Amino acid sequence: MSGALAAKAKITTEVTATADNKKTTNSNDALLKADDWQRGDIQLRCTEKWHETHDVISFRFQGLSPVKFTYKPGQFITFKLEINGEMVYRSYTMSSSPSRPYSIVVTVKRIPGGQVSNFLADSVNEGDVITLMGPDGAFNLVDIAAEKYLFLSAGSGITPMYSMSRWLLDTKVGSDIAFVHSARGNDDIIFADSLAAMAHRSAQFQLSYMLESADDLSAGINHTANDSRMVGRIDVEKLTALVPDFMSRTIFVCGPEPYMVAVKSLIESSTFDMSRFHQESFTGAAKTSDSSTDSASTAAKFMLSIDKKDISLSTEQTLLDGIESEGLPIIAACRSGVCGACKCQVTSGTTESSSTMTLTAEEIAAGYVLACSTKITSDVTLKM
Ligand code: FES
Repeated sequence: MSGALAAKAKITTEVTATADNKKTTNSNDALLKADDWQRGDIQLRCTEKWHETHDVISFRFQGLSPVKFTYKPGQFITFKLEINGEMVYRSYTMSSSPSRPYSIVVTVKRIPGGQVSNFLADSVNEGDVITLMGPDGAFNLVDIAAEKYLFLSAGSGITPMYSMSRWLLDTKVGSDIAFVHSARGNDDIIFADSLAAMAHRSAQFQLSYMLESADDLSAGINHTANDSRMVGRIDVEKLTALVPDFMSRTIFVCGPEPYMVAVKSLIESSTFDMSRFHQESFTGAAKTSDSSTDSASTAAKFMLSIDKKDISLSTEQTLLDGIESEGLPIIAACRSGVCGACKCQVTSGTTESSSTMTLTAEEIAAGYVLACSTKITSDVTLKM
C-alpha cells in the first residue's frame, strides 16, 4: 500500500470510529440527563428476564426513554396489569438497589395457582411495556436507621434484604451486616452467587443459610467458604451460634407468615429490645385464579352490605374476598396489609383486623380498615 493510500485508509477508519463514538456518547449523554422518577404511575419496558432458581424469575425494567429511579432500599412497587380483561394490582419488593438507578429489578416466585406470579412468569417478556406505580413501603433503610444490621429472611422474603445489602455495600462500605437466610435446599437459594460475591468482598458481610435437610449441607452447588450453613429451623441457639452479637443489632425480617411468627416469638423470648425489630410480609391472602367464596363454607356467615349490594361472607373470609366476589372496584396491591391501597370504611357492624399498618389513629377511630386484612364478626355495612 502506498503511503497516500495508507493515510487515506487510516483517515477513513478514524472517521468511522468518531461517528460510532459520537452515537455512543449521545446515548450515554441521554442517560446522564435521564428524567428523575420518584413517584407515581410510569410505563416501563422489560429489558431483561432471567431465572434465579427453578421457580423464581427476575425482571429488569427501564424507562421508555432513560429514567433514573429514586426509591428507598427495601421499598416495593405495584404492578397494574390487565389479566383476562380484569385490572389487577399487585406489589413486589424491588430486589435492585437504588444505588444503581437506571433500572429496577423485581424478583417473583411462582405460586401454585397464583394469578399474578404465573402471569408475570408466563406472559411478561423482554420488550413488553408494563404500567407500575409507587414506590411505597416503610420497611426500608432510610426510614429505619441502624448501626449494625441483622437480616433474617425465608424464601422470596429475601428480596428486600438483598436490595438493602447491595445498597449498603455500594454506599456505606464496611457496613456491619449479618444475613441469615432460610431456604428449602441449595437449589432454592435466591441470589446465591451474588451473595457469595458480596461475602467474598466484605469481611463485614456475614452470610449464613439455614437449610431444611442434612443432604443439602454437603451437596451445596453454591457452597463457598464465604458462608456458614446449618440444618433445621432457626431458633435462639442456632441464631446465637451464627450471629453471636445479634442482641446488639437492628433486625429486619421478611418471609412467609409462619416463619415471621416463629422468628418474632424467638426474638421476643430472648428479651431483645423490640424497638429494633422490623418486619414485612407480602405473603398474605394471595388471590388465586379460582378465588371464590366457597373456601370457608363451614364457617359462620354474616352479611356484608356495600352500596345496596348484600354479600354473604364467612368469618374465614376477608372483606376483600367479598368485594372481589361481586366484582366491585378495589385496588388490592399487596394483599398483606402493607400498602394501604384497599382502605375502606366500616359504617356499622364489627370486624377483626390482622393489620392496620398504614392507618392513622384517627382513621381507625373513624372505622377505616384494610379490606385485605379484615374479617367480619357480625353483619357489616361498608363504604368504599
Ligand atoms: S392490599 Fe395492601 S393493604 Fe390491603
